[in-house]
Amino acid sequence: MFRDTSSCNTYNYGDALYWDARYIQEGGSFDWYQRYSALRPFVRNYFPTSSRVLMVGCGNAVMSEDMVKDGYEDIMNIDISSVAIEMMKRKHVNTPQLKYMQMDVRDMSIFPDESFDGVLDKGTLDSLMCGTDAPVSTSQMLGEVSRLLKPGGIYMLITYGDPRVRMPHLNKPVYNWKIMLYIIPRPGFKKRDGDSSSTRPSLEPIPTTENGLLPTDFILEDPDSHFIYICKKLDETELITNVL
Ligand SMILES: C[S@@+](CC[C@H](N)C(=O)[O-])C[C@H]1O[C@@H](n2cnc3c(N)ncnc32)[C@H](O)[C@@H]1O
Repeated sequence: MFRDTSSCNTYNYGDALYWDARYIQEGGSFDWYQRYSALRPFVRNYFPTSSRVLMVGCGNAVMSEDMVKDGYEDIMNIDISSVAIEMMKRKHVNTPQLKYMQMDVRDMSIFPDESFDGVLDKGTLDSLMCGTDAPVSTSQMLGEVSRLLKPGGIYMLITYGDPRVRMPHLNKPVYNWKIMLYIIPRPGFKKRDGDSSSTRPSLEPIPTTENGLLPTDFILEDPDSHFIYICKKLDETELITNVL
């Protein structure tokens, strides 16, 4: 049920036609990496239910629907695949909390600056980073995400990319993001001795180095863990405090 891409195995992940074909072929619904139930502690911690949320690259995941069941009132879902968006529009025609628009995350100019309290990304930056013009696409997407966040707003990125490969993109002064890191084992992961008690994700951020990397002696219990980056757009008072 939970597919994982531990590395890019196709350049097509950045291509709308690839995703259209895939959604036509597969139909139904599918959540990449993790379901809402596993992510809920993080989502609830950082996004009040009254938040205006942007779900980038929603695909046909159940995540947004589950968030509405949990009390979220306003989720704008976008995806480059018109097939996925039309499917999801039909499915949720009677759910006013969920809106769907076909859009490229690299150009979301239809939305004014500072439109959202939170942006959620589960696997979409990862897809762009597998595309043919990955470096350009990545900075276009992150620039747009930063523009759309209100001061104090949160970009939550759920990814297979560890800090060595994600921090150089996220940790750019132009975005004004304070970044925290969490790690969550893949669904169903059991320690070697079969004990799953200590694999529950901690709600304490992982201490990182000055550059946002994992300390050299850090041991990942599950080598295929998922990483949750919480990028908080600093507001003016926090920016001043950071400079002083
Ligand atoms: C790995 S899937 C993740 C889907 C969903 N977020 C989930 O968690 O199951 C990546 C999604 O990003 C979408 N996507 C890829 N490139 C995009 C772009 N440039 N703009 C918007 N969506 C894009 C794809 O259509 C696909 O639905």
